[in-house]
Amino acid sequence: MKYFTTINDIKNAEDLITEALNLKKDPFGFSHLGKNKTLGIIFMNPSLRTRLSTQKAAQNLGMNTVVMNFNQEGWALEYNDGAVMNGNTVEHIKDAAAVMGTYCDIIAIRCFPSLKNRQEDYSEKILLQFMKYCNKPVISLESATLHPLQSLADMMTIEENKPTNRKPKVVLTWAPHIKPLPQAVANSFCEWVKTRDVDFVIAHPKGYDLCDDFTSNVTITNNQDEALLDADFVYVKNWSSFIDYGTMPEVNDNWLLNENKMSLTNHAQLMHCLPVRRNVEVIDSLLDNNRSLILKQAENRVFAAQAVLKQMLETNYKIEEKFTITSNEAELCNS
Ligand code: CP
Repeated sequence: MKYFTTINDIKNAEDLITEALNLKKDPFGFSHLGKNKTLGIIFMNPSLRTRLSTQKAAQNLGMNTVVMNFNQEGWALEYNDGAVMNGNTVEHIKDAAAVMGTYCDIIAIRCFPSLKNRQEDYSEKILLQFMKYCNKPVISLESATLHPLQSLADMMTIEENKPTNRKPKVVLTWAPHIKPLPQAVANSFCEWVKTRDVDFVIAHPKGYDLCDDFTSNVTITNNQDEALLDADFVYVKNWSSFIDYGTMPEVNDNWLLNENKMSLTNHAQLMHCLPVRRNVEVIDSLLDNNRSLILKQAENRVFAAQAVLKQMLETNYKIEEKFTITSNEAELCNS
């Protein structure tokens, strides 16, 4: 594996989920693989789970890690080719990424969207430039449009907790929030859950449609109660508008997930990627009861990252003369 930025970068989702579940049973079985290898972990945005789980995953494989919060600790980056850098930006991404590539064997990067310019965000400008110039395998730690490590951990969690006597019903429901959030977790969840043998339904208020590229062939409703009927898993997540990009269209109905709404489900298990705004998105009693999977999802982040790193280390990646990429092409969703 050379890149892990979308499900399209991997050959087989089932195999990767199984690999991650096996690593959970034997975390140190491949601690020789990463000897004398360095993982560079770059954050343009805050993180708890992604930062610590990725470091732990690398350490379980015997890798060294170097971590940098670019936005707080690095030089202000320039992203535009040919820019005359006589303003606030100090270092071009092509130089920063190339330098990181000389220090590291694999690079992992978090780069959130601006939520101001849909075309620019959905072109994955920052991620693609980093991939182009660092010339090393790259793992997305959540990009402008996708969060694949979260989704891999979520698929592991569903696999571990699914009913054995029927095809599970999985509901992704929009939840309220106090500020606009990216669509990345929801987009990614759609990409991954569509590969599973489940009935999948998305519920969101009017104005919160996700990009068609991710929701094609999925049942979508604006009626949360209808979606929750007989659900086995309820994944709660806020996202801002894709259509009126980055805004928060007014919602009159109550979308806060509470006990009454959960009573419509088939004794469903609750999922959330965290961090969660308690009593804004979901009420405390649902997050804290034994049907909540939030800590299991967070725990599985370690083994999701470990499975991806393991496959990259095993690939014995060789630098190619020419940068090529088949996924996340610049025209994605830029209509
Ligand atoms: N779920 C997740 O990505 O958490 P962090 O933002 O804390 O890394």
